[in-house]
Parts: sequence; structure tokens; C-alpha cells
Amino acid sequence: MRVFAPAKINLHLRVGPRREDGFHSLASWMVTIGLFDTLIFERTRGEGITLSCDRGDIPTDEGNLILRAAQSLAAHRPERREGSALDGVAIRLLKRIPVGAGLGGGSSDAARTLVALNQLWHTGLEIEQLQPLAAALGSDVAFFLNQPSADCRGRGEHVTPIPPPRPKAAVLICPPYGLSTPAVYGAFDRLGLGDATAVDQPFPWPQWTELPSERLLPLLTNDLEPAAFAVQPDLGKLRAQLEDAMGRIVRMSGSGSSLFTLFDMMSDAHAAADRMRATFADLHIEAVELCPMLNDDTIPKHG
Ligand code: C5P
Repeated sequence: MRVFAPAKINLHLRVGPRREDGFHSLASWMVTIGLFDTLIFERTRGEGITLSCDRGDIPTDEGNLILRAAQSLAAHRPERREGSALDGVAIRLLKRIPVGAGLGGGSSDAARTLVALNQLWHTGLEIEQLQPLAAALGSDVAFFLNQPSADCRGRGEHVTPIPPPRPKAAVLICPPYGLSTPAVYGAFDRLGLGDATAVDQPFPWPQWTELPSERLLPLLTNDLEPAAFAVQPDLGKLRAQLEDAMGRIVRMSGSGSSLFTLFDMMSDAHAAADRMRATFADLHIEAVELCPMLNDDTIPKHG
């Protein structure tokens, strides 16, 4: 079974002050983008769950959310038949989403593992029943059960699907360094940031989803930007340089380090990405579709 796991960007991210449990309340508009990890699931004899990856720097033990997702779903499997031969699974990860970039790659892999193994093992859980398993794995995992476009609240785990934005594409800019999410939230606290009222406000999604990129971009914010730029001042400078060079607003995704801007059409995003690659040779710059279709083996094939 071959499964695609898309990355996300936070189009908009408001963050409240630190809560008693150490997390921060959020209000975020998250969308998937056309940048994917690929997961291959193969049934094996026995009950073992194994993970391998095409990149040596990615953990393949319990440090990887894919294994934790598989184990948490295995606990919900119905009583297994005595001596049933193919209850194990070998999972292969082809890693393409940059790590420490605020693109949710690990969370997406975990959510797609829940969906894929729920089918492969005939566990028969509904999305609503997978939701608590996803939330226990990480704040962003529940979004990826409800992609491609959602209003995310709580610490990220309360997910309400909303229509995709009108802009069809983004240019994604990934610097050669990643940022640690706990480090960015730590800086956020030290800077005394966090507006409790901002995360309680309903956002005018019905209007925002209708706006073209030029009118939507000025409305978007990411409250983690000052904290991320305090941790990595080069990132703040890079964002300013990119805004100058592109002549449009550039935002950070999640806790960084990736940056993006939006375009109404894919062709415009490709042209801008080509221009920026010529100027910023050391950066990974890519034009990506917003809210892409996922045509993989989790989709039932008819006929
Ligand atoms: O839930 P997840 O494992 O993605 O969170 C990683 C870290 O990010 C947490 O340990 C916490 O420091 C921070 N975080 C937070 N508030 C959130 C989400 C994450 O403080 N809503």
C-alpha cells in the first residue's frame, strides 16, 4: 500500500500565552501543500512493526511518530485470529519534507499511518475515533486526518474543516537550518508574548477563503515570527530580503524555519520560484500547489 503524506503551512497563526500544561492555545488556518513524504506499507508474517527510511539521519525507532502511530492503532485492533499469518507490517518512509521547518512532516506521516493501517488491518475505526489517537501523538496530527484546509484550535487538536483558500499556489523557501519548536515557544514565553483574546476570536473564514492572494496576504499573521527571529536572527533578515526581492508579503509557517508567499495561479508561483532561485542560490525554493488531491492507495479504486 503506497500512501502520500503532504506537508502543511499555517496560513495564519495566532498564539495565546503559555497554559498550565506547558502548551499554548492556538487559532490557526492550516492547509496542505504539494510536497510529500511517501509511505509504503507491506504486510509481513508475525505481529512485528518495523520502519526503515531512505535517509540515515531520520530515526526509525520509537523516536519516529510513524512507529508510535502504528503501535497506538495496533492496540485497537479487534481480537486477532489464532495463527493469522500476515498481522505484521514493514513500513518504508521516503522522506522529502524538510525536518524542523514548521511543515508538519512527522505529524503528517503519523496521521497517514493511522489511516493506512486502519485499512490494512481492517481495524474499522471512523475518523472521529482516530482523532484522540492522533491528538495524543502530537498537536498537528489531528489536522492531517482532516486535511486539506482547517481551522485548528486548542493546542491544535480541535480541527474544523473549512473551504480551501482561493489562491492555488505558494512559493516555499526553506533555509539550510531548521528550528526547534520547543525552543521557539520558549523564546515566545521569555519575550512575554501571547494574546489570550486573539485565540478566542472566530475568524471570518467565509470571506477570507474568497480573497485573492494580494488581498489575503496582508490579513495573515504568524505570532511565532518574533520568537523564531529571536532564536535565529538570520531568518528575520532573510524574510525581509525575500519581501524586497519578491515585492510581496512573506510569512513563516508554524514555528519555522520555512517561509512562504501565496499566488493565485501555479504558473505565477513557478515563475517567481525560478527568479528567486537565481538570487538565493543556497536556499531550497519550490513552487507548490495548495490543498492538493491525494491520489494514493487509501482511495478505494472502482471498476
Ligand atoms: O505537540 P507537539 O509535540 O507538536 O509539540 C511540540 C512542542 O511545541 C511542545 O512540547 C511545546 O513546547 C510546544 N507547543 C506549544 N503549544 C502548542 C503546540 C506545541 O507550546 N499548541
